[in-house]
Amino acid sequence: MRKKIVAGNWKMNMNLAEGLKFAESVSRYFNNKPAAKAEVILCTPFIHLGGVSAILENSKVASGAQNCASEESGAYTGEVSAGMIKSTGAKYVIIGHSERRSYYHEDDAILNRKTSMALKSGLKVIFCCGEVKEERETGKHFEVVKRQLGNGLFLHSGKEMAEVVIAYEPVWAIGTGLTATPDQAQEMHKFIRQLVSEKYGKEIAEDMTILYGGSCKPSNAAEIFSKPDVDGGLIGGASLKLDDFTAIVEAV
Ligand code: 13P
Repeated sequence: MRKKIVAGNWKMNMNLAEGLKFAESVSRYFNNKPAAKAEVILCTPFIHLGGVSAILENSKVASGAQNCASEESGAYTGEVSAGMIKSTGAKYVIIGHSERRSYYHEDDAILNRKTSMALKSGLKVIFCCGEVKEERETGKHFEVVKRQLGNGLFLHSGKEMAEVVIAYEPVWAIGTGLTATPDQAQEMHKFIRQLVSEKYGKEIAEDMTILYGGSCKPSNAAEIFSKPDVDGGLIGGASLKLDDFTAIVEAV
């Protein structure tokens, strides 16, 4: 069965005390509610992850990281391995976010390695893809997403794909206030599901959770999530405010 998910990506926001306090409020909110219709995930900075994972243990909310190393262990100063992330109790890791691709020059080959490390360590992967503005304007968006998935993700096996969630995040919609229209999101999500189907078969494609990300907020979430191939969201700015984040989860 295809799972609905709403994941918050805190990016580089909140100090440790603020992050822990916020995770406690999110946990309290969902623990006091009947089961949410979506799995809720908080993807935090590395510094917060141990504390947040402890707070969320036995709660209805899962934790995740925003990146992991492309190597398993050793002399890689400043890096954090997938195994270390897993050891905090976290379940997920975001790989291939556009901010990692553009600011830290992570290419398809590196992202493929990171995905392998994460899956090998028993983490679930939220694999991001999406085109920049110019690529959309010149009609290259399908080609770009196809390349990103083909080279970064589709080298993995069908069995491994059961541990993967795909997030479509058009770069022009991230943090800009511009959102893909529900029809634009549906069109790309359907295309992505088709690619998964061609590579891995219909059953794996039908089970694949595909999230939308990019200026998702309480006022537009319900309409975007109502589309048949949109299975939830990856939320940046609005995941930092309890009321907005919980309203987006309710919109599923
Ligand atoms: P915003 O929701 O702030 O546009 O960010 C989306 C995003 O990048 C989530 O990973």
